[in-house]
Amino acid sequence: ARHFSCVKVLTRRASLDSATSVFLFRRFSEELHTRPRERDTSERERSQSVTAFYYQSAIDQAAAKSPDKSHILRSAQYLSKELPVRIAHRIAGFRNLPFIVGCNPTILQVHELYIRAFHILSNFPVITNLQGEEKYSDTLRQLLDDHKDVVTMLAEGFAQVRKHITDENLIRTFLDRTLTSRLGIRMLAEHHLSLHDEKPNHVGVVNIAFSPRRLIEKKAQYAKSLCEGKYGNAPNVVLNGHLNATFPYIQPPLDYILTEILKNSFRATVETHSSNGYNMPEIVVTIANNDSDFVIRVSDRGGGLPQKLVQKAFEYNFTTAGAVREDHDGGLFDSFVASPQSTPTPGKMHGYGFGLPTARAYANYLGGSLTMETMEGIGTDVYLRLGHLDSKSESFRI
Ligand code: ADP
Ligand code: COI
Repeated sequence: ARHFSCVKVLTRRASLDSATSVFLFRRFSEELHTRPRERDTSERERSQSVTAFYYQSAIDQAAAKSPDKSHILRSAQYLSKELPVRIAHRIAGFRNLPFIVGCNPTILQVHELYIRAFHILSNFPVITNLQGEEKYSDTLRQLLDDHKDVVTMLAEGFAQVRKHITDENLIRTFLDRTLTSRLGIRMLAEHHLSLHDEKPNHVGVVNIAFSPRRLIEKKAQYAKSLCEGKYGNAPNVVLNGHLNATFPYIQPPLDYILTEILKNSFRATVETHSSNGYNMPEIVVTIANNDSDFVIRVSDRGGGLPQKLVQKAFEYNFTTAGAVREDHDGGLFDSFVASPQSTPTPGKMHGYGFGLPTARAYANYLGGSLTMETMEGIGTDVYLRLGHLDSKSESFRI
């Protein structure tokens, strides 16, 4: 059972202003992913957040941009308390791994990165002015960069130790938690850092006029160029459905999820139709947007996969990519939050079998779902379903 508190967000989409976006993002990041083992923090976060909900105008005021930049100062002060706690939970996670897993040099290296980050952040002097804030932001930027390869390292480490582990759940629980908590930490840090910028339609990492179509077009183009680079050929992507939909959303996790889904469809299509030359069936992406959620379906004619492998496909480190080491693709993920605009290193289509499980963990973390329907011999449909940030529905959890 997940320990979210469900709160109805009354904000109307039309009136979602800067302050509210920050408010939503804050609450969203504070409340997501609380769980029994972290009861102390979760109770604290929950009661704070629920109280905050009933005093929304106070929160709005506090979150509003202020000309003297005191909102940036407050944001840094908030993070300086929040991040060490979250990082401490990650360290506890590593400590609780079975000995044989925790001793793996690559996994140990990640464990040490978190211990180091904990010391750096918890020893940081109290932030009292904008100068202190600037130093803090520099430290955060550096840490984001130092941790950019964490997913690749975990993928590699777990690929090495997996043969010693019989309990699949143990690995899944650890990786789901570690990867989604990391996503939350990075989004919070990125959000803070981007409060310094004036980007049109953005409040921190919240894009208040997010267009699924534009993002899908961008990611499709990127995956296509990867595919052409690797196979010398690639199918087209066509979009349909609610092409003009725009709404507030946080783009970075979608960058990752969509890229992974599209790469899989490209790979399946090319590998199934390699003899067809330039006559490959296109990948069809459909967008459906409604008041409470939005759905993105990626349909390919890449031959599907046997029903018995569908569940396996969502296991960490399951891949049909063969020589795992050569083709790994962690770089893509790792660069996404650190510099969302940068083009990741080209050339990698698949790798450690982290794409689908990570994408699903992120979708769940965002309160949504990722499911796959496959027709062996024909193709695969992947559905990504996510709630709106300002959903009016009771079930939306932030
Ligand atoms: P990777 O792409 O690194 O292998 P993923 O977790 O993204 O890792 O996918 C795991 C496996 O699921 C793939 O190796 C492939 O066998 C299968 N798979 C995923 N998407 C598709 C698809 N659209 N069509 C056919 N098989 C797929
Ligand atoms: C990570 O990216 O792994 C983090 O936790 C980043 C944080 C140390 C700022």
